[in-house]
Amino acid sequence: MIVLGIESSCDETSSALVKDGLEVMESLVLSQIDTHAVFQGVVPEIAAREHLKVIDQITSQVLKNTGSDFADIDLIAVTAGPGLVGSLLVGASYAKGLALGAQKPLIPVNHVHAHVFGALLGTNITLDNIEAQFPLIAAVVSGGHTNLYYLPSATCFELIASTIDDACGESFDKVARLLGLGYPGGPIIEKMATEGDPKTYKMPQMMEQKSRLAFSYSGLKTHIVNLVHRIPKPLSKEQIRDIAAAFQEESLGQLVRKISAAIALKPATKNIIIAGGVAANQRFRELVRADINLPTFFPELKYCGDNGAMIASMGYFSYLNDARDSSKYQEYDWDVFSNYGF
Ligand code: KG4
Ligand code: ZN
Repeated sequence: MIVLGIESSCDETSSALVKDGLEVMESLVLSQIDTHAVFQGVVPEIAAREHLKVIDQITSQVLKNTGSDFADIDLIAVTAGPGLVGSLLVGASYAKGLALGAQKPLIPVNHVHAHVFGALLGTNITLDNIEAQFPLIAAVVSGGHTNLYYLPSATCFELIASTIDDACGESFDKVARLLGLGYPGGPIIEKMATEGDPKTYKMPQMMEQKSRLAFSYSGLKTHIVNLVHRIPKPLSKEQIRDIAAAFQEESLGQLVRKISAAIALKPATKNIIIAGGVAANQRFRELVRADINLPTFFPELKYCGDNGAMIASMGYFSYLNDARDSSKYQEYDWDVFSNYGF
């Protein structure tokens, strides 16, 4: 079964063709980072207009690169939320038009949940053996979310922890901006941190005093703001590296501690999935490997960020698991679409 996945929830336009759930035939991603970099963050109106310029071109290119046409596609999956509404509308309206024109079923996909499938792309898991991987715990750590899910089965998501303030990736972006390092902050902080000493500056451990399974990042960010305020300017390269290293170690440390706590709460857990933009961080992977004693799936680097392949993959499993049951299909959360009746 071949699924076309379309993603446009934030600042990446992406189309992909995925075969039988996890085999990526082609995935093209066009990032708008350069357009938004001057504003040091994503400007929603500009993002929507940029998607509109390229979405058809990128989808046509995916078909061309795979020698496919619409007749070869069995299902269209599209991000229906969460995301920037103008950006979502571009992808959703486009996918809806394609589905109507080509008479293909269309399925809405939750972007945050889809990141979990991004970590499974390219593995040899199939529809027949995927359920054997569950229950599992998935951490989706991105610019907008820091969520821990317990998945008793492939398409059942129980949210067990989220952030009470900033998302983890967002805190990387904010600290990078504070240190004058540019946007997006994650990769730059990671690079600076490799040359810094995480022990030079002591960081507070957020949420440690609370037994609640939840994340917090704004206190850590404020700590860095105050620290930078106290140091005479300009900061030296060495000071910037050490602050980046200390911040990174604690922000990732918090994730690993909470993942361990979640595993203790859910002893039936068989596997861990680490997903989302922050999953690209190599120090994060090292810390998880060192402290978590369960088999762990990390996405290939190209599937950490937003991409249409993860949307197609989640669309496939959702469609085969429950959406073919028409009563369930109608219950799907169409979000920006309004109801779509086929
Ligand atoms: O999943 P994603 O591409 O988009 C959202 O849905 O948010 O994640 C983007 C976030 C940004 O905040 C970015 O700074 C962060 O992921 N990020 C990283 C790294 N690469 C991207 N954070 C830490 N280390 C990285 N290497
Ligand atoms: Zn994302």
